[in-house]
Amino acid sequence: MTTEEHKRLADIVKETHALLRAEYHQYGAEMAWKRHLARNDVLQKYAISMHKLATKCWVDSNSDLRNGTFCRIEWIKTQCKEYFYNGGREKYDKKEQEINAKMTFFSAKSYDESATCEKDPSHIKNGLQNFVDERKISLLDVGSCYNPISIDNAFDVTAIDLIPTVGVYRCDFLNIVIGKEKILSRDMQEIYQLPTNFFDSVIFSLLLEYLPCPKQRYICCRNAYDVLKSGGILIIVSPDSKHVGSNARLMKSWRYTLSKIGFMRIKYEKLRHIHCLVFRKCLYKDVAIRWSKLRFFETDKKYLSETKIFIPQDFQTIRFKEEREKLNKYEETDIASAFSELPFNNEALIIE
Ligand SMILES: C[S@@+](CC[C@H](N)C(=O)[O-])C[C@H]1O[C@@H](n2cnc3c(N)ncnc32)[C@H](O)[C@@H]1O
Repeated sequence: MTTEEHKRLADIVKETHALLRAEYHQYGAEMAWKRHLARNDVLQKYAISMHKLATKCWVDSNSDLRNGTFCRIEWIKTQCKEYFYNGGREKYDKKEQEINAKMTFFSAKSYDESATCEKDPSHIKNGLQNFVDERKISLLDVGSCYNPISIDNAFDVTAIDLIPTVGVYRCDFLNIVIGKEKILSRDMQEIYQLPTNFFDSVIFSLLLEYLPCPKQRYICCRNAYDVLKSGGILIIVSPDSKHVGSNARLMKSWRYTLSKIGFMRIKYEKLRHIHCLVFRKCLYKDVAIRWSKLRFFETDKKYLSETKIFIPQDFQTIRFKEEREKLNKYEETDIASAFSELPFNNEALIIE
């Protein structure tokens, strides 16, 4: 791919982000999102550009050979297999039960059913079921775009995005109904409803930064919690080229907010351009919440919320008018810094 083509595709992606973010500040989250979803042609162009960039431009430039991890998709698949096939889940089932036993002992109360993530205690049994026959890992890829995980036979993938493409259902995860079962549109291209407690794993790969509003990001995490089985995992990959310490407070605040939902962070790795995180939906919600109670957050109040997930751009000066007018100067915009992990501007990394 030529440098010009690469730049053209990257511009389409960045322009889409810039417009959504600018409209969020102009109209508020709900109206901006409505307007965004109505721009079918823009979403379509975005999907095609993103697919080409991810499969033709970023393949090598996203590589990070440290720990044998090749790229975000490989990292995600490896974590799932480690967790479900190589004893990871059993390890955390045991750990959680031990913590819960201690908590029960210290609070001198017997096991309180209301403290678990579901009313029906059978979820604990479900959570502890082994993958004895190495059955496929049921995985929901949110913001999948081009369905990169489904080529691996270990996974039974449900891929969703704002725009349907081959193997990808149309589904707005932000406004999805979560009920008893999966409900599809007549033409089978759209998902109207997702089942509760159903998936082994939910993936947010470069999804949260797409959403301009902290509350929207939180809603997505809460929805992930609802569609996951107990003991299931939410994997988040988030762009950041800075040093691991630079946004450590934000990473801590995510951990705090997600622990309040009922997630326990079980893995965190900072690769060159991305944060990679695995959160487990706890069998016992109190075990997850306990983490936020054990920690003291006096110094980090600005980043702490029980219903918001912050990213660095939330704290930067908004220059949305400039964003609209000077789309060629992405480097100077908030959106560009959001995606600075991706080699949009790094000519040296372009594969031709
Ligand atoms: C930056 S792309 C990431 C694509 C892919 N996951 C990857 O890692 O290369 C973000 C994708 O999330 C999708 N998306 C954003 N909000 C969404 C929502 N509420 N529901 C479903 N998909 C969403 C966008 O349409 C876009 O395709």
